[in-house]
Amino acid sequence: MRTQVVIVGAGPSGLLLGQLLHRSGIDNVVLELRSREHVLGRIRAGVLEETAVTALAEAAVDARLRAEGLRHDGVELCFDNRRHRIDMQRLTGGRHVVVYGQTEVTRDLMEARAGAGLATEYEVPDVSLLDFDTMRPKVRYSAGGRKIEIECDVIAGCDGFHGVCRASVPQDAVRTYERVYPFGWMGLLSDTPPVNEELIYVNSPRGFALCSMRSKTRSRYYVQCPLTDKVADWSDERFWDELRGRLDPETADRLVTGPSIEKSIAPLRSFVAEPLRFGRLFLAGDAAHIVPPTGAKGLNLAASDVLMLWQALEEHYRGRPSGLERYSDRCLRRVWKAERFSWWLTSLLHRFPDSEFDRKLQHAELEYLVDSQAARKVFAENYVGLPIGS
Ligand code: FAD
Ligand code: PHB
Repeated sequence: MRTQVVIVGAGPSGLLLGQLLHRSGIDNVVLELRSREHVLGRIRAGVLEETAVTALAEAAVDARLRAEGLRHDGVELCFDNRRHRIDMQRLTGGRHVVVYGQTEVTRDLMEARAGAGLATEYEVPDVSLLDFDTMRPKVRYSAGGRKIEIECDVIAGCDGFHGVCRASVPQDAVRTYERVYPFGWMGLLSDTPPVNEELIYVNSPRGFALCSMRSKTRSRYYVQCPLTDKVADWSDERFWDELRGRLDPETADRLVTGPSIEKSIAPLRSFVAEPLRFGRLFLAGDAAHIVPPTGAKGLNLAASDVLMLWQALEEHYRGRPSGLERYSDRCLRRVWKAERFSWWLTSLLHRFPDSEFDRKLQHAELEYLVDSQAARKVFAENYVGLPIGS
């Protein structure tokens, strides 16, 4: 078998790249470890920057997003039992974010791919990469009891943090940078009206909390929890009580609770692999970098990597190799800025096992953020997303 690009992973990165390449007339095959249902069952991101919306529009998969996505012009920060609104729209000259779940983005991309009759193999357990340091890379896997080998021009490693692509690179060719945080997020999804029209990020003495949503009738809430906690430790009742205890009294009174439809715990990590290119293998999205979810940057970084990889591949097939050569540096400049913002916001909003001095500094920084127009502007500019550089 032969194709132009083999994409490993059918998360948002892999599916978006596949759709963009298809629209440019570049053949591709997507290989995914899990089943379609498993991929759709993972509840993750909820906030899209304009760049991600643009990428989905370029891929012509934005119809439902335009109809059902919720435009958010601001976000609230809560500490000392008081809420402070950051008017992102005013502070950034008219920019905003869109609340639309990663599950829905993935569903839209899967439907577009199936509708176009493009090749996708789900439940492929044994992908291996060969010869990506040559001009003729190959990918091997088995399906339906047969061993298959695809020869291609390029392999796109879109297989997330635990995938096979980054792991296939010789150890001395890749440098990694990592910070693991001493807590996780316990998340709950429920068919209840969101407690607020906009997201609320909370720093409370009991720890961080986040009030988010998927629609006007579906809420997504998170509370900071110890890394040792298991989902089974968190009954719905315990979750709602803990969340209420972290909110300001007025918001706590308004909170509508109900049975959970999903609960999960996510550890928090910052991670970057450098470079993102190894011969004819290119990493994109979580395969290359992880941010703690506090800044809502993970899916957005994945979308901007994919936009840049698509542009580079288009140039490559028009006979200009420089795009592929610049891909890694171009992405990494944006990645590190998002890493910085996500680390900073995580440090600002969570309870750490640290000294009183650190806590006082955290409080001073929160006060500075809400009191200073300059600080609010810096926050807003980062939250709506930095531009894609050249
Ligand atoms: P993934 O979604 O991880 O997809 C990779 C795919 O590759 C998976 O389907 C996997 O099964 C497959 N795969 C793995 N190994 C193999 C293999 N060997 N062979 C074939 N396939 C393989 N981001 C935001 O921007 N905004 C948010 O609000 C936000 N909130 C989040 C909240 C939580 C609780 C979490 C956990 C994450 C959040 N993120 C957020 C981050 C976001 O979900 C990820 O950055 C995003 O999923 C990255 O997409 P991806 O396609 O690169 O990787
Ligand atoms: C979400 O809705 O899942 C969400 C929103 C904002 C974040 C993280 C997660 O910062």
